[in-house]
Amino acid sequence: MSNSFRENIYRTYLDFIEIAETRRHWNVFNDIPWERLDPAKVTDLTVRAIEIYCAEEMYVPDYSAEGLRMLRSDFGMAWFHTCWASEEARHGLVFREYLTRSGLRSDAQFAALEKAVFSHTWTLPFKSRRQMACYGALQEGVTYTAYKAQKDRARESKNEVLEAIFHYVGCDEAAHAGFYRAILKLELEEDREGTVADLGMVLANFKMPGDGLIPDYRKRLNSSGCGISARAFVETVVSPMLVTLQIARSELKPQGLKPRNLRSA
Ligand SMILES: [Fe+2]
Ligand SMILES: [Fe+2]
Repeated sequence: MSNSFRENIYRTYLDFIEIAETRRHWNVFNDIPWERLDPAKVTDLTVRAIEIYCAEEMYVPDYSAEGLRMLRSDFGMAWFHTCWASEEARHGLVFREYLTRSGLRSDAQFAALEKAVFSHTWTLPFKSRRQMACYGALQEGVTYTAYKAQKDRARESKNEVLEAIFHYVGCDEAAHAGFYRAILKLELEEDREGTVADLGMVLANFKMPGDGLIPDYRKRLNSSGCGISARAFVETVVSPMLVTLQIARSELKPQGLKPRNLRSA
């Protein structure tokens, strides 16, 4: 890695952390209107959706350890990863608090969920920093899209607590996706052909982190309606990303746009 590339990654991290610490960070205890908690305002479908989101966020120990092992010699990326991991941990915590404070899930049910989650280990789906940046941009985009839909549903049902939760968590996911897109811009400047090839390969093999780890992941996503369709994946995540990165769809051939392993929901 050249010194200028390393410096640009560091600057990108610095922009990310400055905005996070001065404008974006929020607090599970003070920023959520817990006093307005009303379990009657949430459907069983939404409860099951939040449980899956919570389980997926709970793999933070694996996300942190695996990511940091790969990025440890790269200051900008490694320090981003530590901040990212603490934000993802906050997401798992706020979902957990919502389900338990509202009485929708008991402590015993959560203990069973933890046991199920930690009986499996998440490992890096791709081996290089650049491939994982491609994966991060896509995965965070999917997560943001799913949470935005949940925020809209919460607003419609006048569930202020859930609306606030999905607002704050969604802002974090959008910031994560933005960081990875900024890194990919730098990667493209450094090696356009290699970066486009990596993006095509990651797209062709894309699946969410919980897919294959959380029992019955796809079935549960479909039954709770909390995933996004393959079509929405292309239209709301992939296409805008390609526009931002100024990559033509034709450049991604032969893999094309459609991922093989994306859940359909
Ligand atoms: Fe998250
Ligand atoms: Fe995220």
